[in-house]
Amino acid sequence: MKDHYGRRINYMRISVTDLCNLRCVYCMPEEGVQKHLHKKNMSFEEIIALIKAGTQLGIDKIRLTGGEPLVRNGIVELVQAIGQIEGIKDLTMTTNGILLPKYAKDLKNAGLNRVNISLDTFDEKKYHQITRWGKLDDVMAGIEAAMAVGMSPIKINTVLINGFNDDEIKKFVNFTIDNPVDVRFIELMPLGESSNYAQNKYISNAEVLKAVPELLAVLEPEKTGPAEYYQLSGAKGRVGLINPISKHFCSECNRIRVTTDGKIKPCLHSDFEIDILKLREEGLTYLQILEKAIGAKPERHLLEDNEKQMVRNMNEIGG
Ligand code: GTP
Ligand code: 5AD
Ligand code: SF4
Repeated sequence: MKDHYGRRINYMRISVTDLCNLRCVYCMPEEGVQKHLHKKNMSFEEIIALIKAGTQLGIDKIRLTGGEPLVRNGIVELVQAIGQIEGIKDLTMTTNGILLPKYAKDLKNAGLNRVNISLDTFDEKKYHQITRWGKLDDVMAGIEAAMAVGMSPIKINTVLINGFNDDEIKKFVNFTIDNPVDVRFIELMPLGESSNYAQNKYISNAEVLKAVPELLAVLEPEKTGPAEYYQLSGAKGRVGLINPISKHFCSECNRIRVTTDGKIKPCLHSDFEIDILKLREEGLTYLQILEKAIGAKPERHLLEDNEKQMVRNMNEIGG
């Protein structure tokens, strides 16, 4: 389905849990999700019904996110069920990778084509610091596991943080020389409780090209997502730049997001949400709810106009 600005919306991102086995400082408060505030997760039945309705409107790409999607009970069964829905061409997941050694094989067999894995540093101590308790070895084993079962392409998401990992830009770029992975630098976005952190630590992805001028732009026949790709000559993998702040890509936006507690977000950077359960109770079908959500997509986000919205923390939206 096309929205009011002529954009074809074919991509649904679904956060299946707001819980996480890490606590990245830009994403979640240290104490995690407070139990008494914990809202009800959408059930697998509701998720499947929503996706099925989505396929009637041209949704053909599903990404499961979190929190950390692999901590949701029954995640492999959910992947399997989505994999069987006719019309879904790309089924993928964004994960911190920690549980991939345990799940990669089952996920692949269940129909998960590929994964995007978050990794902000190659330094053990810094990894522990940014995730508040993660172990670098675990995520590296997760990347290995995804490669070993033949998931492809594998993308590494690296949030660029001033004074934290800007000194590792070259290291990340060099990781693509021998590994067939896409390393994508993401500009830090002010969301939820981490807004202040983000405002102090943001640097533009232009720094990547300054640090590694040898990177050559890759011409893509068709752009499929927000990243602009570059490559080192002869490298097996590529380097992507995702620039939501310095160069927003709203005119190419092709997605809607579903939060853990069943709200559709037409835009990541807006507080406006559509309550699925409430509209179901009012008698709307999933199809009608999705049409409403796609129809409500704004033309662009207003971050650079300093329009402050207390958007939820990233762990409930899934990026
Ligand atoms: P691919 O399908 O593999 O290209 O994935 P993706 O880039 O859509 O998914 P992923 O979850 O890996 O996204 C990486 C990050 O880019 C997200 O977590 C966000 O931080 C950012 N991002 C992705 N889509 C948008 C968007 O529509 N708006 C903004 N502002 N940021 C986005
Ligand atoms: N700004 C940019 N990226 C973020 N992510 C989480 N929070 C932020 C933020 N404030 C990234 C994670 C993960 C993806 C889902 O979003 O590192 O790769
Ligand atoms: Fe967990 Fe990902 Fe948030 Fe880190 S960024 S706390 S891994 S959901």
